[in-house]
Amino acid sequence: MITVEQLEKRYPDGTLAVAGVDLHIQQGESVVLLGANGSGKSTLLRCMTRLIEPTAGRVLIGGSEVGTLDEEGLRALRRRVGVVFQHINLVDHISVLSNVVQGNLGEDGRARQWFGWSATNEVRERAMDCLERVRVAEFAGRRADQLSGGQRQRVALARLLMQRPEIVLADEPVAALDPRAGREVMDLLWRIVDEDGLTLVCTLHQLDLARHYGRRIVGLRDGRVMLDGQNAAIDDATIAALYQHDDQHDDQHDDVVAAGEVGA
Ligand SMILES: Nc1ncnc2c1ncn2[C@@H]1O[C@H](COP(=O)(O)OP(=O)(O)OP(=O)(O)O)[C@@H](O)[C@H]1O
Ligand SMILES: [Mg+2]
Repeated sequence: MITVEQLEKRYPDGTLAVAGVDLHIQQGESVVLLGANGSGKSTLLRCMTRLIEPTAGRVLIGGSEVGTLDEEGLRALRRRVGVVFQHINLVDHISVLSNVVQGNLGEDGRARQWFGWSATNEVRERAMDCLERVRVAEFAGRRADQLSGGQRQRVALARLLMQRPEIVLADEPVAALDPRAGREVMDLLWRIVDEDGLTLVCTLHQLDLARHYGRRIVGLRDGRVMLDGQNAAIDDATIAALYQHDDQHDDQHDDVVAAGEVGA
């Protein structure tokens, strides 16, 4: 379903974020992409649908080479690929239901918003079904900015369901949530993927979540695949090695950011 060959991304400032990744993911497979902060997970995931343009290598999704698609081809591909981000991107000032209805439509934000108001009953009913499936139907009429983080991410999952994707790319979907809300969202995501037979790539930096949810784990370090195997077959030392590099640098960076936020 997804093939990545010798993928490389070097940012304009010279940072080599993805350094020659090969990956083959079968239809219906769930893969956890695990690695420390800065290991290249988000870059790799975004390169798959060219939200970031890779600098070398190629990606094939469902047989088509993503790098050669024109704008229309890329739009069609992105309709088949649902994305979930860490920073939950709902439209704040419209209702939960309108946010979900948007999942039904194309890419242009304005067109989608406009459609939210004029959606057919059939579309609205389907949106309600999607909300029910992730247990937030009771909030359908509420403005999206009046929900908790966990509820918002569940609405994002409902919007994803509305899109009826074949593939889901989730980038740290629960990193902004507390552990309990995070587990709820992860449970729902995994259930959806299982029930609907979707192909999933989910990045995580938390080892415990990866161990709990992962079947196949692909471990990244410094933009390279350091391990790739079934969760049960990977020992603790191998997986811990993913975090033994460059940690100090990243911790320091996090401290600076945290201190900046406190000061602000
Ligand atoms: N726009 C950019 N320009 C330059 N370097 C970047 C850019 N975005 C990311 N990087 C760098 O590329 C490397 C990989 O970043 P990336 O965000 O892909 O890692 P990650 O594994 O997703 O990290 P995290 O767990 O913090 O989300 C890091 O060294 C990061 O600093
Ligand atoms: Mg990331």
